Amino acid sequence: AGCVAGTAGRAAPDGESGGGAVPGGPGPAGYRRLPVPPLAESRTEDGVRWFTLEARPGRADIVPGKSTPTWGYSQDLLGPTLRARTGETVGVRVRNRLPEPTSVHWHGMHLPAACDGGPHQPIAPDAGWEPSWTIAQPAATLWYHPHPHGSTQLHTYRGLAGLFLVDDGTAAGTALPHEYGVDDLPVILQDKKLNADGTLDERNEAGTGLTGPTVTVNGIAGAYAPVATDRVRLRILNGSTMRVYNLGLDDDGEFEMVASDGGLLAAPVRLRRLLLTPGERAEVVVRLQAGRPRTLRSFPAPLPARKGRGPSAGAAQGEEFELLRLDPRPQLRAGTATPSALAVIPPPVTASAVARTFELDGNTINGLPMDMERIDVTATVDVPEVWTVTNTHNRVHNFHVHDNHFQVLDVNGGPPPPELAGWKDTVSVPPSGSVRLAVVFRDYADPRNPYMYHCHLMRHEDDGMMGQFVVVGKGGRTG
Ligand code: C2O
Ligand code: CU
Repeated sequence: AGCVAGTAGRAAPDGESGGGAVPGGPGPAGYRRLPVPPLAESRTEDGVRWFTLEARPGRADIVPGKSTPTWGYSQDLLGPTLRARTGETVGVRVRNRLPEPTSVHWHGMHLPAACDGGPHQPIAPDAGWEPSWTIAQPAATLWYHPHPHGSTQLHTYRGLAGLFLVDDGTAAGTALPHEYGVDDLPVILQDKKLNADGTLDERNEAGTGLTGPTVTVNGIAGAYAPVATDRVRLRILNGSTMRVYNLGLDDDGEFEMVASDGGLLAAPVRLRRLLLTPGERAEVVVRLQAGRPRTLRSFPAPLPARKGRGPSAGAAQGEEFELLRLDPRPQLRAGTATPSALAVIPPPVTASAVARTFELDGNTINGLPMDMERIDVTATVDVPEVWTVTNTHNRVHNFHVHDNHFQVLDVNGGPPPPELAGWKDTVSVPPSGSVRLAVVFRDYADPRNPYMYHCHLMRHEDDGMMGQFVVVGKGGRTG
């Protein structure tokens, strides 16, 4: 599997195309039907399933009647959903049709660092990049987005983001609603600030970066989805650059969370609120009754603040938004009950772990801003690591680690809540608080190509709250 710059040529349709759809009918007044990103087509050549993505400018009606200049992958805004199975070898022919360099990072994917699509794999305008790797992880909702150092926030804000779904065919996965676009809906959250003429306001605000009052789902504001089943699975991605969502339903009823960043939880978790910081994903099952709409909302997010210091600030989190209205048809098909056991999550490995500390402050980690020429951490294949990540600010940060998923050992010294007890790749670090993570880096020793860890509030990442690690072989082996 190589990750060389090349000519990302042929657009190559074969294989699967878009998912199904619930039959239409008039929608509720003032809403537009939720767009469902198409499933990306692929073509298999010599055992590699190739997808094609073209980063390009476009125009989209984010709000009705305004045509907004945007960026997207192979479409005007956002990108198609890539979907593949565990064990498959996939490749992506990426072509950059933008006027400046970008990159494409496979967030949450375990893969060689040279294929990771981080700041060291830029794609020049009109150039291509063709990473290829074998999927070696359980079913999960992953995503892809740009990662050019210093421009990640702006490129993502303009609309470069898409989902990458991994399937593994396990019984729990197929007992959950799984008909793409029908009872299994992608929900990509992004917020925008629109100027009066419909263009994106791209002025960074101190503290909140590129954040706006127009919150979109799959690229539009004011979305509704018709539903024909009594359960619907939402694969929610916080694809915003800086906004934290505190998700819940308008009737304050419960929903079941079934998966987090790295795949299924051990068991479903009943929740009324779920905090999702930039980069995090959650799969939830929402129950519906015929004729009774329920609406996914974001409520003001009460992130813990250090006593006596007032509310935490530094990310957009205080407002309330309607996100997606679910409109059940008059007759609903009955779905399968959510299995009470979903996945086996082994206990975290901490014995003889290498301990490291990461202090997030200013726009630095451990006092240093990101330096493309500096390797901050050298980890060894299969040697357990325990990372203590401290947020010395009274403001919101989170922490994302490339390559392998981690397990949260504790949050502010206490056991993680059940929604954080599965495999994670991005986790909120409470203001003036800390998290401890257990991670083991598997395979892909390569001392020359680093992976990244960083705050996923993209303004912070662009400003330097990022570091680099390499994975080396045992006893100094390099491959
Ligand atoms: Cu989602 Cu290093 O990124
Ligand atoms: Cu941050």
